[in-house]
Amino acid sequence: MYIAHTIDDLRRHLSAFQSPAFVPTMGNLHAGHIDLIRQAKPLGNVTVASIFVNRLQFLPHEDFDTYPRTWDADCAQLEAAGCDVLFAPNEKELYPEPQTYKVHPSAALADILEGHFRPGFFVGVATVVMKLLTCVQPRFAVFGKKDYQQLMVIRGMVKQFALNTEIMGSETYRAESGLALSSRNGYLSADERTEAMQLSLALKTMAAALKAGSHDIAAIEDQALHTLTTRGWQPDYMTVRCQADLLPPTLKPGAPLEPLVLLAAAKLGSTRLIDNLEINP
Ligand code: PAF
Repeated sequence: MYIAHTIDDLRRHLSAFQSPAFVPTMGNLHAGHIDLIRQAKPLGNVTVASIFVNRLQFLPHEDFDTYPRTWDADCAQLEAAGCDVLFAPNEKELYPEPQTYKVHPSAALADILEGHFRPGFFVGVATVVMKLLTCVQPRFAVFGKKDYQQLMVIRGMVKQFALNTEIMGSETYRAESGLALSSRNGYLSADERTEAMQLSLALKTMAAALKAGSHDIAAIEDQALHTLTTRGWQPDYMTVRCQADLLPPTLKPGAPLEPLVLLAAAKLGSTRLIDNLEINP
């Protein structure tokens, strides 16, 4: 695996390849990331990953400083998965001066849900992804559906800026318990890890109510919030939204369900977890 720490070196190395397939990450890799690499491999003629912990997408009270940096283990996993090139710039390389030009995604999409609870998060994500895409110039880029709203923001950005990159969404990689894999799962104690599966269970319960014909979305959401709160969680949201725009649906009695997505964000102890579940009629 070729490791490039500078944009110049990356560009020099990639100039020989027509169609890179790219997986951006913040490191601390787990099986979910490696699954993204496996999906990227057949798409392009060179597989590129990046590791960059992006300060711009962390709020001041969040875990930028303590976000796990696991360089040696990350490199070993990428090598083993057959990644060809790793782009690992430091902050000075990617942000040599304060990043005053930023990508501001549509507020209708980026200021709700995650954007409401983490103001500025999607500006930080869109800005770094734009910059990484400009550096790598991939034909394909693979993102996990676990970060559902992030994937939608990136798709919108790529479409509106006419970037020559096809964005592929990959199904969420889960532990056997149903827990969606996330770098932040590493913060959970053993007991919390067992409890953490309740988040995906709560989403399944919401989906079952909708599929059984309940149209009382407020009651379905309240029940899920209540279940988690009673178990000691601090939920930010447990909500039913349209896949098309993440707005609340209007369910008409007797009408077929439109494609929906159930989205969850909740704190367990001091660890904030997110998850989601698509419902396709
Ligand atoms: O999903 C992530 O790991 C990050 O938000 C991303 C896309 C690598 C941008 O920093």
